[in-house]
Amino acid sequence: MKISRRKFAIGLGAGIGAGGLWLSAARPLLAADHAMAAAAAASVASPGFDPDVELELRAAPGTARMLPGQTTDVWQYSGRVLKGDPQTLSNLDGSGHIPVIRVRRGQKLRVHFSNELPEDTIVHWHGLLMPQPMDGHPMYAIPSGGRFVYEFTVDNRAGTYWFHPHPHERTGMQVYLGLTGVFIVHDDEEQAAQLPSVEHELPLVLQDRNFNADGQLVYLSGMRHDFMMGFRGPHVLTNGVSEYRREVARTAHRLRVFNGSNATLYQLRWSNGQPLTLIGTDGGLLEQAVSQDRLTLGTGERAEVWVDFSTLAAGETVSLLAESYSPTLEHLTPLHSTPALMDNARIVATFAADGGAAVPVAAPTVLSRFPALALQDAVNRDSPRRIQMAMRMGQVTLNNRVFGAMDEVTDDERVRLGTTEVWEFANNASMGMGGGMGMGGMMSMAHPMHVHNVQFRVLSRTRSGQADALHQSLSAGFTDVGLKDVVLVLPGEQVRVLMSFQTHTGIYLYHCHILEHEDMGMMRNFLIES
Ligand code: C2O
Ligand code: CU
Ligand code: CU
Repeated sequence: MKISRRKFAIGLGAGIGAGGLWLSAARPLLAADHAMAAAAAASVASPGFDPDVELELRAAPGTARMLPGQTTDVWQYSGRVLKGDPQTLSNLDGSGHIPVIRVRRGQKLRVHFSNELPEDTIVHWHGLLMPQPMDGHPMYAIPSGGRFVYEFTVDNRAGTYWFHPHPHERTGMQVYLGLTGVFIVHDDEEQAAQLPSVEHELPLVLQDRNFNADGQLVYLSGMRHDFMMGFRGPHVLTNGVSEYRREVARTAHRLRVFNGSNATLYQLRWSNGQPLTLIGTDGGLLEQAVSQDRLTLGTGERAEVWVDFSTLAAGETVSLLAESYSPTLEHLTPLHSTPALMDNARIVATFAADGGAAVPVAAPTVLSRFPALALQDAVNRDSPRRIQMAMRMGQVTLNNRVFGAMDEVTDDERVRLGTTEVWEFANNASMGMGGGMGMGGMMSMAHPMHVHNVQFRVLSRTRSGQADALHQSLSAGFTDVGLKDVVLVLPGEQVRVLMSFQTHTGIYLYHCHILEHEDMGMMRNFLIES
């Protein structure tokens, strides 16, 4: 197995001292990486591209108000609109350090990105279809002080996407320190579905964090074992604040819930026992609304929930409750210190009805039509491309490999443009590859698997062995009916997904979205060839 020399540097000494941020572990890119990135990266705007929207986006140190009465040093994205609708860029309500980019499908975007951090970074547009050089692959990471010009046409369905850093081995740390943005796409189909308007949208980003006595963020030590387990923190923040509460009009709202944590997974429900009306997932609106009691979100997963607050009396509240689990499926809720516990779950958002008149709205029924994607069209429908996850010897692997050279692609990682394929993510860790409870004493974990530049459908989940009560409860909250770019694969499961490579050729990534696993190399390139 090939192990990068830099592998053991991750997180070492990375932390926050009393004097603010310090990062002794920031490491330079290898010369070869730089050469490759420099050769292909876009650092100047191209004259032939005429953007509808032009933005300036910076990643820089700043501060946020995450805990009551305290100021926390963070790293954050911020920017301004240079051309186009000024509403394109706003901030999530909360601690104010999470920006929202809101665009329409078909718009051409140019983003002038500048890295004002003390280390390399690059922005990835999670869930969006992107030409390779715009996708934020770590090969394009730019050094501190560097710039990168993104130019692309928004080609995705209306939905809730996100942007975050993607430099190799530093993604977990950078997201943890605050670098997260929401990317919302609107389109005509969505408009026809008559959903609540933008003022009645409630994006909710869930992230767990750990603070020291001064209210400063504390990440993992450099211990390898901690990275295997993934970060979990005692505070669950919503939109960057520990006790998220908001006054709402007594009418229908659209929640865009998003698990932006590094490793922790959540299972959500309403405090009053009403079912959740699910209207969308990672890749946009469902075909029809679905009602379910619980909603399970692995890291990177998004879900849109429709809710009508008109049944609340003025001043009455309803809360979104979350039970949290580490990827080892250990129940974290009782360990978490804030916010308050209710019914064995955390209150992660409270909505209080305002004094206005109640305007009831009927739940939407027909929402959208999915792009045609049929199993019979798959070139490998009887022999899925199999991706075996394993944890052993202090390493997390995909088909027994870790991320290697920036452009390394093996023969079984090539797909053809214009084809549809079935992939199988296999997490039967106790079999075959020697993972599981056996070698190295590692336990098996749930892995949220993500593929770049595609939205897939979940075809099936099969299990080796009996599902226990926890598995049953978690899977009852899955959003497998929708279009997805992340799918949570529980221990003992094989999950088959169907995807079509219709847009761009080039090198893209597939990886576990536990950010510490990604940083350890549970990530691989695949190549879309013409
Ligand atoms: Cu959200 Cu490759 O990542
Ligand atoms: Cu992604
Ligand atoms: Cu993983």
